Amino acid sequence: SAVPVITLDGPSASGKGTIARLASQALGFHYLDSGALYRLVALAAMQANVDAHDEQRLADIALHLDVVFSDTSVWLDGKNVGDEIRAESCGEFASRIAHLPALRAGLLDRQRAFRKPPGLVADGRDMGSVVFPDAVLKIYLTASTEERAHRRYKQLMDKGISANIENLLQALRERDERDSNRALSPLQRSGDAKLLDTTCLTIEQVVDKVLEMYAETR
Ligand code: C5P
Repeated sequence: SAVPVITLDGPSASGKGTIARLASQALGFHYLDSGALYRLVALAAMQANVDAHDEQRLADIALHLDVVFSDTSVWLDGKNVGDEIRAESCGEFASRIAHLPALRAGLLDRQRAFRKPPGLVADGRDMGSVVFPDAVLKIYLTASTEERAHRRYKQLMDKGISANIENLLQALRERDERDSNRALSPLQRSGDAKLLDTTCLTIEQVVDKVLEMYAETR
């Protein structure tokens, strides 16, 4: 039978990455951070001075990315870029180019290659709707914009990066808007995805909830 996939889609800073990683560890599953792939294309494009409208070259970058993921980081062309791709500027550029059909198509096979026994937990925007439509469990993870801005703020502070909550709120609103309103693979909850609002939940509670939902599918 098919290798089981659990998909976690939702807006930025909803905690998808943290939850997906922990759930994959608890289940002994592989983990796909699809946002990292969009960020890697963005980073490679910025480094090569590729214009955000140059669909052909961006698709080309997506198809030929030389990338290696480990449990703790990610390497692009042999260089550890784990911190670099998390920068707001990188996420920002990623969301500006993510609407391009050829770029998204160029990442499709690469994402699906993460599906290996015994299973996969994948997080992003279109994991359940486009990349793994036959996932056994599809979750739409969300939290209020204020809560997400607050989490991002704490995350940055912990890293010693100064931030302003109002600016973060504004940036999140703009990113949600862009991700939700594009024609191809917009951020939206597909009908078969279960809604999980994490605004008032701890990380541990959310992970437990995901594992519970998965257990119910079996
Ligand atoms: O999830 P993360 O913030 O790392 O993603 C960065 C950007 O990449 C998102 O704002 C979105 O525009 C894009 N993305 C996407 N589809 C995915 C994952 C990320 O379009 N599956």
